[in-house]
This record gives sequence, C-alpha cells and structure tokens, in this order.
Amino acid sequence: MLSNHASINTNVPGPKASELLERRHKVVPNAVSYGVPTFAAKAEGAKVTDVDGNTFIDFAGAIGTINVGHCHPKVKEALHDQVERFIHTGFNVMMYEPYVALAEKLAQLAPGKHEKKVLLQNSGAEAVENAVKVARKYTGRQAIVTFANSFHGRTLMTMSMTSKVKPYKYEFGPFAPEVYKAPFPYTYRRPKEMSEKAYIDFMIDQFNDFLLKEVAPETIAAVFMEPVQGEGGFIVPDKKFVHAVKQLCEQHGILFVADEIQTGFGRTGNYFASEHFDITPDLITVSKSLGAGMPISGVIGRQAIMDAAGAGELGGTYSGNPVACQAALAAIEVIKEEQLNQRAVEIGQVVKERFNQLAEEVECIGDVRGLGAMVAIEIVSDPVNKTPAKLLAAEMISMAQKNGLLVLGAGVYGNVIRFLMPLVITDEELEEGITILEKSIATVWQKNTEFSV
Ligand SMILES: Cc1ncc(COP(=O)(O)O)c(C=O)c1O
Repeated sequence: MLSNHASINTNVPGPKASELLERRHKVVPNAVSYGVPTFAAKAEGAKVTDVDGNTFIDFAGAIGTINVGHCHPKVKEALHDQVERFIHTGFNVMMYEPYVALAEKLAQLAPGKHEKKVLLQNSGAEAVENAVKVARKYTGRQAIVTFANSFHGRTLMTMSMTSKVKPYKYEFGPFAPEVYKAPFPYTYRRPKEMSEKAYIDFMIDQFNDFLLKEVAPETIAAVFMEPVQGEGGFIVPDKKFVHAVKQLCEQHGILFVADEIQTGFGRTGNYFASEHFDITPDLITVSKSLGAGMPISGVIGRQAIMDAAGAGELGGTYSGNPVACQAALAAIEVIKEEQLNQRAVEIGQVVKERFNQLAEEVECIGDVRGLGAMVAIEIVSDPVNKTPAKLLAAEMISMAQKNGLLVLGAGVYGNVIRFLMPLVITDEELEEGITILEKSIATVWQKNTEFSV
C-alpha cells in the first residue's frame, strides 16, 4: 500500500491561489506562461506544497534546475553562511573566493585533461551568448551553427540559435545574422523503411552537404550541440553522428560547444552528458542544476580560447554572484556524496521500464527514450504514422497535475512528456508519480478512443 506523498485537497487553483492568480493577471504579462495554476508555499526534496496546502510530487524540477532536490539542507546552509558574510561585491569590483573555487571545481570536473578556464554568468542564455563571443574572438570567424530542434535561450542571439518557431521566435524577428541551422538526427521520426544505421549515415551526409550548401566551414566559429536535446523533446543523437560532427569541427578549425545547460550535473548519470559520447568539447555551457535553484551559469573552456578576449570584454554586474557560487559548490558536493549520478541511472531504468510496459497497453506512447534520468515519452495519435498528438499530451499533463504530479511537456510538435524529477526523489515518491501519470495517460487515451469509435 502506497502512502500518499501527493495530496490535493482543494480545486487547483484553490481559494488562495485564485486570489493570487487574479493579482498576477493584472500585473504579469500573459506571455509568461505557467504549468499548474497555483503558487508555491514551500518545497523540499521532490515535493512542492502550494499556498492552499496541496502537495505535488515534482517531475518537473523547476525545468531541470533541482537535481539535488528542493531546499537541500547543505545548499541552505551554504546560502545562509554566505549571506551572513556578504551578498555581492561585484567580481569586477572586488573579487571573492567562491567564484574562484567554483571555477576550479568546474575546470576539474569537465571532460578533458587540458588546462581550462571558467567564466561565470547568471542564466543559461547568458552563458550561450558568452560562448558565442569567446568563440568568435578566438577564431576571428562569425558564423554560428546550431541544429534543428535545438533550444539555446530567449535573448536575441540565443533565440536566433533556437529552432522552434512558436512560441519562442514568432514575430520576434529580425534575428541575429550569421546563425545557421544544421539537420539533426531524430531517429524515431526517420523515414519509414530506413534502418537506424542507414538513417545515421544519411544524416552525416546531410551535415556534410550543409557545409557545402549553407555555410563554408572556414567561416564557422563554433558548432553548438545539446548532447541530448532538451526542449526539442529529449532527442538523443547517435554517437556516430556526434563523432562525425566533432571530427569535421577539428578538420576545419571550428570550435565544438556542448550546451549542457539541461543535460548537466547528474541528469544523464554523469556530471556532463558529453562523457557518454566520449567527446571533449572545446567549450561547455552550464547552468540549471549547477546552482540548485540559484541563478548561475558558466562557460568552461580550453585556456587559450577563454583567454582570447581582452580585459573588460567579458563580465556582468551580477555574474558569478557569491551566494549563487556557494549554492553551486554545495550542489556539486551533494551530487558526489549522495551518488546522484548513480541514482540518475536507476531512476532512468525504472521510468523507462514502466513506460515501455504501458506502451504495450496503450498505443499512444510512440517512443520512450532518454539518457540516465533524462527520459521522455512521445505521444502520438496513431503509432503507424506517428502523428504527433499535442492536445492529448497536454490533457494528460493537466490530468496528472490535478492528481498531484508536476510534469512538463516538450518537443517541436509539443507532444512529448519529459521527466526532470529531483534525483533525491525516494522510491515511493517515484512510484507514486509514475502511477499518477500512467493513470492519466490511460484515462485520456481511453476517452479519446471511445470518442473516435
Ligand atoms: C540547452 C539549453 N540551453 C539554454 C537554455 C536557456 O537557459 P535560461 O532559460 O536559463 O536562459 C536552456 C533552457 O531551457 C536549455 O535547455
């Protein structure tokens, strides 16, 4: 018998959340969307309680920022300690040790034995922006290559690098110039009758063609790749494709940048997902779970590349804020001490197994995929044609939320349900969360098939 970790005692939104929603709608732009229509009161581990006392199991993890769990005691202690001493002096004004300590730690953890340097920033998009600056400075080239289905942020440059039009780019142009989108393998959606192996070879040929048809390799500063595409729908590229791109980068003096903002810090079972592909990126962008919920990001790179820019050319008022640095240092310790990389692998196995089982019973689960605990399922209205079922996925997510599970969608077609639960989630919480979602999927699918008969 499961004890109930999720407990929903009011409508969602409940009375207090309804009042706040009304206030919110008056002063917060509609474009700032929300998953569940309520407001947080407290959160711990893998659970969030709202202002009306409803408790949700968290499979969303603040969009992948909470791998070490909400309010981990070690993180809280590190934050309190720092706040007692000072909150910010501005690293460009008077430096502080936590910035240096975090840079040392990240340089040590990142793949590759070469000398590295680390620039700290505030958000994921800011890290990507700075990786672009650094790559352009070092190579003296302008072109930036990203991939179909990719997501790199919402600033002008990172939005230009992002691939999904609605809602990220629609009517926000003109976009930054010299950004080119290369094809990316999406094995589940490969042409019918093409084997996986033939498809990967085909996509490598497509990448070579891209360098002939779209942009000359000698003008490219950097290729940005998410080792597992996040917002794109947790698409894991074949290792052969990643190696082919990396090899072409080396051949043409192009920097290979791994955008590990969503894949990092335990999510895939390693500190960096690049490790699964046996590649050493020239630059790596990090954020999200690095800070355990505090806004911090970074660019980790080869020393010579990171030193190409001159004094004053990189920085920012809040960049590498000491409170956020302390949170990150504590989070990295927690990942090590609590063996969260190992835990990510276990979570991933359980989740994959359960949804693969469910896929045998309900036809709408077209694909179950991922790396470590970065797992997603793709919802389709018919498994033969793989027609994306965005509305069904949204309904499933909404029903799960009503039953006490926070979970997010993703994917260029909006039909992917992705899991970013804190890695400290207990077995019981995991079991309960999976059960809520299984029931939601089965119920919505059954209702859909009844209607279409
Ligand atoms: C791979 C990747 N890059 C960049 C970003 C942008 O990060 P932020 O929202 O912190 O600017 C995200 C956010 O989801 C991401 O997943």
